[in-house]
Amino acid sequence: MKKLSARRRHPLAAVVVLLLALAATGGLYAAFAPAGKAQADETAQSLAIEEGKKLYTVGCASCHGTGGQGTTDGPSLVGVGSAAVDFQVGTGRMPAQQPGAQVPKKKNIYSQAEIDQLAAYIASLGAGPITPTEKQYSPEGADIAKGGDLFRTNCAQCHNFTGEGGALTHGKYAPSLEGVSEKHIYEAMQTGPQNMPSFPDTTLPEKEKKDIIAYIKTVNGDETATPGGFALGGLGPVSEGLFGWIFGLGSLIAVAVWVAAHTAKAKKS
Ligand code: HEC
Ligand code: HEC
Repeated sequence: MKKLSARRRHPLAAVVVLLLALAATGGLYAAFAPAGKAQADETAQSLAIEEGKKLYTVGCASCHGTGGQGTTDGPSLVGVGSAAVDFQVGTGRMPAQQPGAQVPKKKNIYSQAEIDQLAAYIASLGAGPITPTEKQYSPEGADIAKGGDLFRTNCAQCHNFTGEGGALTHGKYAPSLEGVSEKHIYEAMQTGPQNMPSFPDTTLPEKEKKDIIAYIKTVNGDETATPGGFALGGLGPVSEGLFGWIFGLGSLIAVAVWVAAHTAKAKKS
């Protein structure tokens, strides 16, 4: 006790107290200053990248390489961007299971939070298309008729007139667009998976992407979108022609046979 009070009276005591007080004020300021938020975001971001890297090492590195540089089993992911990851993993295409002409869709095994972490990690390897926000892909207020025009000029040659999908060469195919989420449609246009060309904002601005999404959702999601009867698979003139041939011509032939049979009978009697 005596020792302590002796030190308090030491000539340097005041200086030490002052320094401690200054350090405390500085520390408190750093903790509560407005800059704290930006720093917190940055920390969250680097945390997501770190978590994503762990998920990547377990689930993806075997094909895409430890640093995403690619191997003989999978392409490089440097610069594909978070949108490509969100699309590929969100639709269940990735992680791919076996080699083939085209990686099929399957049940997605990652939560959206994990997909975001994977996307953050891969986006950190190189800049690329960024996962769209709801404001970007929501078709609200979009022009459906314009979307139909754009769809017919840009997409129908592969996905068919109402997005039913169709076969391509070498065992590849353009899938049906029925039930695909608005976000995944947007991302498919941004990133151009597989044999599909990509449609960056320079060729297809955000507004036109929205119009296309609105069109796809209208022709695919809505039962009333087939006025006038059966959709016949929505395959257009081919199936309609086939229907005409089989049922139309078929019934004409049946009538002809019937008439012939009755005429023959009438002659005999
Ligand atoms: C069995 C091997 C394999 C595994 C495992 C795998 N991938 Fe792939 N990945 C591929 C192949 C092959 C392609 C090319 C797909 C195609 O052309 O259809 C591809 C394509 C991709 C693409 C599209 C690249 C582009 O250019 O647009 C992304 C993104 C991707 N993979 C991410 C992932 C992620 C994330 C994981 C882990 C969750 C993963 N992959 C696991 C083989 C694999
Ligand atoms: C050259 C042919 C081609 C054109 C043109 C094309 N696509 Fe595709 N599209 C494909 C192929 C092939 C796939 C499958 C990719 C895969 O499985 O990795 C695909 C996949 C998609 C998917 C993902 C569907 C799913 O099941 O997850 C969407 C959405 C899509 N395309 C929309 C469009 C839109 C919208 C356009 C026009 C702006 C368009 N595509 C133009 C060939 C094409």
